Amino acid sequence: MKIMPISMPKDIDKYFFNRIKDINMINTQLSTLKFDIPPQMLITGYRGVGKTFLLRKILKDQGNNILTVFLDISEIMGRQKGKLTEEKVLKALLNEINNAISQNQQSYKKWISKITSNIKKLELKNYDFSDNIDVLDIPLPVIKDNYDKLSKFVMELPQKIVDSSDEIDGFIIVIDEFQLLKNIEKPDAFFWLMRSYTQKQFNVGYIFTGSVSKTSDIINMINGQEGAFGGRLIQINIEPFTFDETKRYIDEKSNNLKFTDNGFKRFYACTRGIPLYINSLSSILPNNVVCDEDIIKQTLKLNIDQVAMMWIYIWGRLSQGEKDFIVYLLENDGANRETLEAQLDYSKSSISRFIDSLSNQGIIEFNRDKKFVLSDKMLQLWLKIKFETNGFYPL
Ligand SMILES: Nc1ncnc2c1ncn2[C@@H]1O[C@H](COP(=O)(O)OP(=O)(O)OP(=O)(O)O)[C@@H](O)[C@H]1O
Ligand SMILES: [Mg+2]
Repeated sequence: MKIMPISMPKDIDKYFFNRIKDINMINTQLSTLKFDIPPQMLITGYRGVGKTFLLRKILKDQGNNILTVFLDISEIMGRQKGKLTEEKVLKALLNEINNAISQNQQSYKKWISKITSNIKKLELKNYDFSDNIDVLDIPLPVIKDNYDKLSKFVMELPQKIVDSSDEIDGFIIVIDEFQLLKNIEKPDAFFWLMRSYTQKQFNVGYIFTGSVSKTSDIINMINGQEGAFGGRLIQINIEPFTFDETKRYIDEKSNNLKFTDNGFKRFYACTRGIPLYINSLSSILPNNVVCDEDIIKQTLKLNIDQVAMMWIYIWGRLSQGEKDFIVYLLENDGANRETLEAQLDYSKSSISRFIDSLSNQGIIEFNRDKKFVLSDKMLQLWLKIKFETNGFYPL
């Protein structure tokens, strides 16, 4: 039986579909690494459109001469107690760098001795090596309020690894869910720090990505005119599958799903070509009948929680004010700031906070009519169906 997964599968190639153009575009940028031109990118796109899957695939397919690191900030947030700090992010990065080099067992020993000698040349006087946590063979200093040295140590390491090995031409670091870096104390300063090191590292490429709206302030903070990278990050938006791509995808990867013409149109209208929704709706459609419009409508209505699963989780973590804000946009088909300030029972500063937080989570966006609107049609459908069925919106 064929499966269309709704979470990250281990065997990426078995489930991955197409994206040839995106892969070529990103790989073209990455190919400059070996010519000492470090590519820096920002990958955006709707929730569930496949940014993480795509980047995992791209990293996996790099040749042996390129080392790669995939750092997911949401994992660090999930693992830790208390506040997210710069140190925790840097330590996690260091850990991943070590994982990357340890995969190549043959060269590992050779690198490690060179790297270790390089590390020793760094001024690490303030580090206490006595009760060090060894990440395999790298003596990892205990960090004692010495953020400057820790950041220098970690941020310079990838380039040092490339420099210390003839077989390695470059290092690619993907930072997923980067918008969560907003939770550290001084996100601005952290982005500037990264920027300052990337300028001196000719064979290290950074790719930032996350579930964030294109019009959010975090994008400005990192890549706006006044932002740390000041527009130098090449911004690539990952689009949903087109109608035809969706059709081919279903033909190739689904468990023999069949549609009438109108049934498929409906299927596409509901999923909007977003793989997450294509996969979750496909997994509940009957595969022994030809699905028409009605079957799609009914299945979706009865199983909306399964298809919109991601939203149940996100909704649960929003504040009451953010929920009221979303419901207002839903019922009024979007609104501008003045209307929101006049109509919602919240202060101007609260409304600004909702706007920041919801755009940084990719839930709302600012459209061409200068209105805030909900970014995701499935969220809208979920709220509507819940309201119709229960008489009230999810709590
Ligand atoms: N090219 C693809 N081929 C097949 N399935 C895909 C593809 N891209 C994404 N998917 C499916 O959609 C799901 C969601 O993709 P992914 O997690 O990469 O989205 P995302 O854009 O990173 O979303 P978020 O913004 O929520 O992090 C994946 O688990 C995968 O099952
Ligand atoms: Mg993702």
